[in-house]
Amino acid sequence: MAKKKLRIGMVGYGFMGRTHSNAFTQAPKFFNLEYEPQLTAVCARNQVRAEEFASNWGYSSVESDWRALVERDDIDLIDIAAPNNMHHDIAIAAVQAGKMVMCEKPLGRTAAESSEMVAAVEKAGVPNMVWYNYRRIPAISMAKAMIDEGKLGRIYHYRAKFLQDWTIATDLPQGGEGLWRLDKDVAGSGVTGDLLAHCIDTAMWLNGGIDSVTAMTKTFVKEREHTLTGKVEPVEIDDACAFLARFGNGSLATFESTRYARGHKALYTLEINGEHGSLEWDLHDLQRLEYFDHGDQGTTRGWRSIHVTDGDHPYMGNWWVPGLGIGYAESFVHQAADFINGLDGKGAAPTFADAHQTDLVTDAVLKSGETGLWEAAN
Ligand SMILES: NC(=O)c1ccc[n+]([C@@H]2O[C@H](COP(=O)([O-])OP(=O)(O)OC[C@H]3O[C@@H](n4cnc5c(N)ncnc54)[C@H](O)[C@@H]3O)[C@@H](O)[C@H]2O)c1
Repeated sequence: MAKKKLRIGMVGYGFMGRTHSNAFTQAPKFFNLEYEPQLTAVCARNQVRAEEFASNWGYSSVESDWRALVERDDIDLIDIAAPNNMHHDIAIAAVQAGKMVMCEKPLGRTAAESSEMVAAVEKAGVPNMVWYNYRRIPAISMAKAMIDEGKLGRIYHYRAKFLQDWTIATDLPQGGEGLWRLDKDVAGSGVTGDLLAHCIDTAMWLNGGIDSVTAMTKTFVKEREHTLTGKVEPVEIDDACAFLARFGNGSLATFESTRYARGHKALYTLEINGEHGSLEWDLHDLQRLEYFDHGDQGTTRGWRSIHVTDGDHPYMGNWWVPGLGIGYAESFVHQAADFINGLDGKGAAPTFADAHQTDLVTDAVLKSGETGLWEAAN
């Protein structure tokens, strides 16, 4: 019997437009899906580039105005892979037009924006999801299963870092294509909403809600030329942020992110220490989960380096043969597959409501960066 179709309208053809297009292309080839994804339309303002993108990925049509995309009656799902300032208006218009919606992170530039988005999806009652893709790297999914099984026992510590170095040059401009992450109006914040949002989403998934935070933020380069105005303008985003957090389960955490860690391009690491054991993970070695089990006895006890590539590891039975790896792109494939197979009632996280919780934490972090106080994060 022919499968039901899921007709996708993608907004944005940049970095994430590519990962999502790849995900919807690969997911039905590797996973048994209840719907067949169809790349129906891609939307971006530059018609020529959008047409090139459509032809490369197999989209059947192109739109240059997202409002026209959202109104089309041959589209079921709007997927937002555009900069952060676009998320709110597109998502709300999409659900008001009866579409399902997937949105890139952070959901809103502020928690106030994302609370309106949550209200809109809940009122419309449509499936919704935010692309916090790291949850679906098999080693991270396995960490979640181990924690839920109680292998770590009571959790005492959570530690996460996300380090980059691409904005160190003082003559790097801000704003416009490729550099919108430095423009507060577009991005909402700097490393806090861009990078720490990932760390916070993973942390709350693995270790529960965060009650309060205290942060320090820093803008190292205070003025940059704006590519759209040609003028030197103040830089209003946080270049670096470090914060302490108290989780609802009583554990303590440290989080750090910067775009000024020379030599680091995209180093996301995390560590969790519990009563019975510890886990460590590193994006540069993403298929490995390091595990210390205090129950191991004798002189050979120590950290185990688990290569999460066996057929009984999360998602891995759908890929090659045991021992062979997958990578970053496949976390998006897993997310697309889980979203599609959650459509008929099962649901799939993180929803808009989950991602709004992350925005509440990032808002509290940024506020604490200004006040120097502990701030409530939920
Ligand atoms: N999940 C992740 O790991 C991850 C990684 C990178 C980026 N992101 C998020 O994805 C989103 C996009 O980031 P990116 O790196 O792909 O950015 P990008 O700059 O590479 O691409 C942005 C795209 O949006 C399009 N766009 C901008 N304004 C538009 C408009 N008015 N109408 C239609 N299209 C428009 C641009 O043409 C471009 O195609 C951001 O929210 C970002 O935070 C998430």
